[in-house]
Amino acid sequence: MKKTELMAKQILVTGGTGYIGSHTVVELQNQGFEVVIVDNLSNSQIEVLDNIEKITGIRPAFEQFDLAERDKTDGFFQKYSNVEAIIHFAAYKAVGESVDKPLEYYRNNLVSLMNLLESMKKYDVKHMVFSSSCTVYGQPETLPVTEQTPRQEAESPYGNTKAICEDIMRDFCKANEALNCIALRYFNPIGAHESTLIGELPVGVPNNLVPFITQTAAGLRKELSIFGDDYDTPDGTAIRDYINVVDLAKAHVVAIDRLLNDKTKQNYEYFNVGTGDGYSVMQLVKSFIKVTGVELNYKVVGRRTGDIEKIWADTSYGNAELGWKAEKTLDETLLSAWKWEKNVRGLS
Ligand code: UFG
Repeated sequence: MKKTELMAKQILVTGGTGYIGSHTVVELQNQGFEVVIVDNLSNSQIEVLDNIEKITGIRPAFEQFDLAERDKTDGFFQKYSNVEAIIHFAAYKAVGESVDKPLEYYRNNLVSLMNLLESMKKYDVKHMVFSSSCTVYGQPETLPVTEQTPRQEAESPYGNTKAICEDIMRDFCKANEALNCIALRYFNPIGAHESTLIGELPVGVPNNLVPFITQTAAGLRKELSIFGDDYDTPDGTAIRDYINVVDLAKAHVVAIDRLLNDKTKQNYEYFNVGTGDGYSVMQLVKSFIKVTGVELNYKVVGRRTGDIEKIWADTSYGNAELGWKAEKTLDETLLSAWKWEKNVRGLS
């Protein structure tokens, strides 16, 4: 018997040292899955592996390379012949940067997906979960958004890569009946693991609201700018559906279970992954101050270009089909983000 035949089936997690990827690796390992991570470390640190090991007692296998490189991707699947399913997180994700560097975004995000899909066919890997985004809905006319809400033209090249990647998966699944893929459309992931060992660590000035808040509270930033208070919302600030990253990670585990245990209704499916509740920027800021008891300097400035006014998910289809529901409250999630920030900065 060949050595590989003695090994357990594995889940390949691309981007597994990143923010959502690392939390998902923890949840997979907690459920007994064997994981191999591929990451080029372009936006994450190798030390994340130590922290995953501290949390779960297991160090996942790790390979560092860029999935946009076809021969390296091939080499990976030749070496890891027991990969049974893929969770594909690895992608560029900064909305603003994608406007300045569209070709980099299209090349990286599209080519890596296509390389993986080709490999699935070649090396007989049947299952994939893909990181999509609620950005594919743009500013919907009716709220909350269901999976049937029409997609709209993307606001940014980043958003467009998510829509195109969904289409590539749909078409490839249509042409290859043996494949089974699920796209998860995330709303706004926030928070950190309760251990405070893994969390979001943006490089440079954060673009996203919660890391900007926690860095301001920690004294790294002078003040938070709230982008716009003249939206058509109860307090005038924009509304989003903020989902706890551990809840989101668990949605990936149930999606994997759905694929591996043949519970899918079609061989390409997509689900909203949110809480179903919308909170305004001002509500979130006030909740943060309330639960942490820290001071937060903030001021209202003009709207940010490209922002939508409001969006939140209708989660009923995903809840029913996946048997999954977001569990954590906004308050506990904000507290987890603050505990993580304090741990990273060495604050008590
Ligand atoms: N915001 C501020 N001040 C900040 C940062 C953000 O007021 O310093 C506001 C934004 O204007 C927005 C809300 O906080 O109203 C949330 O902004 P984020 O940047 O945290 O998140 P976005 O909703 O803009 O973007 C997120 C993901 C994208 C994804 C998009 C889909 O970061 O990857 O949701 O809507 F595409």
